[in-house]
Amino acid sequence: MFPIDLDGKTAVIMGVANQRSLAWGVAEKLRAAGANIVFTYVGEKFRGNLETLTEDFPCTLIECDVTNDAQVDEAFAQIGKEQGRIDMLVHSIAFANREDLSGAYVDTSREGFRTALEVSAYSLVRVAQAALPLLRENGGSIIAMSYLAAVRAVPKYNVMGTAKAALEQAVRQLALELGEMNIRVNAISAGPVNTLSARGVRGFTDILGLHRERAPLKRNVTLEDVGGTALYLLSDLASGVTGETIYVDGGFNIVGL
Ligand SMILES: NC(=O)c1ccc[n+]([C@@H]2O[C@H](COP(=O)([O-])OP(=O)(O)OC[C@H]3O[C@@H](n4cnc5c(N)ncnc54)[C@H](O)[C@@H]3O)[C@@H](O)[C@H]2O)c1
Repeated sequence: MFPIDLDGKTAVIMGVANQRSLAWGVAEKLRAAGANIVFTYVGEKFRGNLETLTEDFPCTLIECDVTNDAQVDEAFAQIGKEQGRIDMLVHSIAFANREDLSGAYVDTSREGFRTALEVSAYSLVRVAQAALPLLRENGGSIIAMSYLAAVRAVPKYNVMGTAKAALEQAVRQLALELGEMNIRVNAISAGPVNTLSARGVRGFTDILGLHRERAPLKRNVTLEDVGGTALYLLSDLASGVTGETIYVDGGFNIVGL
């Protein structure tokens, strides 16, 4: 098998809440490929989870709430000081108020809309901005996590679908702008996975079941599936790929009936 060797490369992974997080699936693959990893987290609870998860491998943990400009700048300044430069950036962050993921979309509040779009879409632009000085020297690869609701109307995803549409457009716009620095930007559109955030969507268990039934692969996707595609996009194997949204959903999105 052709090995992917990321020895000597550094990744910043944003969005591991626990061992079920999509970002943890990415971390496990990057670690197996030999990458040096910096994790960012929000709050002491998630720091504790990360400390337990990373007990047996050397890595750095840095606090970074993407709604706090000063904290984003400080986090990347610290990463720059400690690592010199980075090669990979993984954005695996989203948030919407619970009431905006259960009621009617037409009732979305101004504040709920702003929060979802700010945390789940603008944050990619903001962290790319902060990471740019660390990436531009050698080029690099950025990925973000999207979902089918960006391009299809999915019941109950409501404003999160709007945020994912903005995220996928931000991926294309960043790809266009950063390409000349050899920085690639792509999204993975993952099928439903039972994570902390996903449980905020009403009826999520039914969505998992429907997906298993209708997807060509007749199963739900795993962290292993998502991590594998992330590893490909973050490595030189994907050196000619940018601005794309790659579906890791067992083929669910291609099905008509
Ligand atoms: N689980 C799914 O079914 C699924 C499917 C497709 C896409 N996604 C996307 O994958 C990404 C990761 O979600 P997940 O399902 O692994 O859930 P998760 O709850 O494990 O991860 C979400 C992360 O977002 C972080 N976050 C929230 N607000 C933040 C803030 N202000 N600053 C910094 N970080 C913040 C949380 O700390 C958490 O680590 C999200 O973008 C999500 O929309 C998930």
